[in-house]
Amino acid sequence: MRPLIAGNWKMHGTLLEAGALAEGVRAGAAGARAELLVCPPFPYLVPVGGALGADIALGGQDCHAREKGAHTGDVAAAMLQDVGATYVILGHSERRADHGETDAMVRSKAEAALAAGLVPIVCVGESEAQRLAGDAETVVTQQLDGSLPDGFAAAGGVVAYEPVWAIGTGRTPTEAEIAAIHAAIRANLEGRFGTPGGGLRILYGGSVKPGNAKAILALPHVDGALVGGASLAAADFLAIAAGV
Ligand code: G3H
Repeated sequence: MRPLIAGNWKMHGTLLEAGALAEGVRAGAAGARAELLVCPPFPYLVPVGGALGADIALGGQDCHAREKGAHTGDVAAAMLQDVGATYVILGHSERRADHGETDAMVRSKAEAALAAGLVPIVCVGESEAQRLAGDAETVVTQQLDGSLPDGFAAAGGVVAYEPVWAIGTGRTPTEAEIAAIHAAIRANLEGRFGTPGGGLRILYGGSVKPGNAKAILALPHVDGALVGGASLAAADFLAIAAGV
């Protein structure tokens, strides 16, 4: 399967900076083996999509579970699709923490994404306390069971494993720990969806940098990366993508 390198810009940048960053990614993306995806803040989706061109995918960082309606401040999956997005990140640990998103809510959002023709990237991952207690695999498996909708595999859904304690900290699990969780995610996907689960992409996220990307991306069942901080510099993002 083609690896996916996704940049999550989170809540960073100005309009000018977003445009320049997108231009920088586009300028260096020719010939990349990986599929590249950029997920800017909502206000920048249209200009960034234009600057990225047709060969780099565009995604949202969240969507609402409802198709439309009186939900001030929210964005519908169909709106993302309407402005050229093909992916949407859902259940990121920052949304689970900042907005109290539960597995059930993430599942509803993923259903809305599928209905709008978007590919959901559903994030899972344990806290440091859960890791230290030896519960990482159990936590991740429970999140998968609760967050993934039935149509997930048929739509080519993506899972992102992001240990909460590795996000933005410069710390990562060991390669063996990453491989173990990714193997457990693969087993879960195959158990739930059968053979199609074996073909779904599982991304690793959490302090991925040019210096560690190649080793992480070489691990079994690591089919790409969800990159936060390092996606804010085009050269770093492209260097990570070159590691596949
Ligand atoms: O969505 C991206 C992740 O939260 C990883 O962020 O690369 O800054 O650790 P980070």
